[in-house]
Amino acid sequence: MSEEGLIDWDSMTFSFTPTDVMYRATCNQGDAWQPGEMEPYGDITISPAAGVLNYGQGLFEGMKAQRSVNGGIVLFRPERNGARLADGARRLGMPPVPVEMFLDAIEQVVAANARWVPPTGKGALYIRPVLWGTGAILGVAPAPEYTFMIYVCPVGPYFKGGMHPIALKVSDEYHRAAPGGSGAVKAIGNYAPGMMPSKNAKSDGFAEIIYLDAVEHRYIEEVGAANFFCVKDGVIYTPELTGTILPGITRASIIELAIHKGYKVVEEKVDIQFVLEADECFCAGTAAVISPIGAICQGDVCTTYCNNQVGAITRELYDALTGIQTQVESDEFGWIRAVPVAEISAE
Ligand code: PLP
Ligand code: COI
Repeated sequence: MSEEGLIDWDSMTFSFTPTDVMYRATCNQGDAWQPGEMEPYGDITISPAAGVLNYGQGLFEGMKAQRSVNGGIVLFRPERNGARLADGARRLGMPPVPVEMFLDAIEQVVAANARWVPPTGKGALYIRPVLWGTGAILGVAPAPEYTFMIYVCPVGPYFKGGMHPIALKVSDEYHRAAPGGSGAVKAIGNYAPGMMPSKNAKSDGFAEIIYLDAVEHRYIEEVGAANFFCVKDGVIYTPELTGTILPGITRASIIELAIHKGYKVVEEKVDIQFVLEADECFCAGTAAVISPIGAICQGDVCTTYCNNQVGAITRELYDALTGIQTQVESDEFGWIRAVPVAEISAE
């Protein structure tokens, strides 16, 4: 069956669409992971006493498969997602999925859903690996059984309009993570507490909120589910990884790219007062890619950047990053991994 007529590639948003197949593997606490199986996409059965449902023992990842200008389907630094999932598993007391098994599973799911990968430049196939404690458990302790699943959805831009400046509001009431907590891993429980503040900001006309640190309420942490960058006098600043910020793979890639281009990149605590006087700001993540920030408001104080246009350095980094991701630019850093589609789907 062709995907033609199923999806209008030109009007995709970041929203859920069921696709053909998903991957599932299970593992008992104390056992080693064994490779899982592909199955038709659909609902699953789970115990109401599952650790993930009662105590949030769960992690997720977010990745994209893109159609390269060369015609193939490519992944961006997927081994980093595998390593991050394993780090998160250790933090939440779950058996880490071996990175090689993770990569093999990702390739299988993408290859089997290849018809859902949008044409180059029209979006991406968003890949959502999840690791859950699915065994029943009443006490607050690691579950006796774990499930690793992967499903995929074709998506468009995370923020409306894509490469269009967004307005953000600094959250003066809520924080995302505190020292010693789970902010540095993609724990599912990190996300629900942000929904209400984010929804309120959206109803006030903002695209998202900016979180400040939970101790001094002064330093920028993240933009919803994306990392933060600003530019001042040609120098690029991003909050250092203090344990409360998610170590974004896009963030790490932008730092490497910018240094390679000759920019000075400073990873340190980034004070909101400094940011309100910056020249350019943007946020970055798999879903957000690089999204320019046109305005930041804290209380009644608002700063507009670049006359609400895309800043020159933001644009340069966006072009460089997306160029590598779609193979318009050569992959000098070895970040791209091709998915052997024909080989797998012919099995
Ligand atoms: N920060 C948070 C809280 C996130 O959920 C994400 C998304 O994964 C990011 C930052 C960006 O990380 P990455 O670039 O690896 O997608
Ligand atoms: C991502 O950028 O992949 C994320 O996980 C962000 C989000 C949709 C929660």
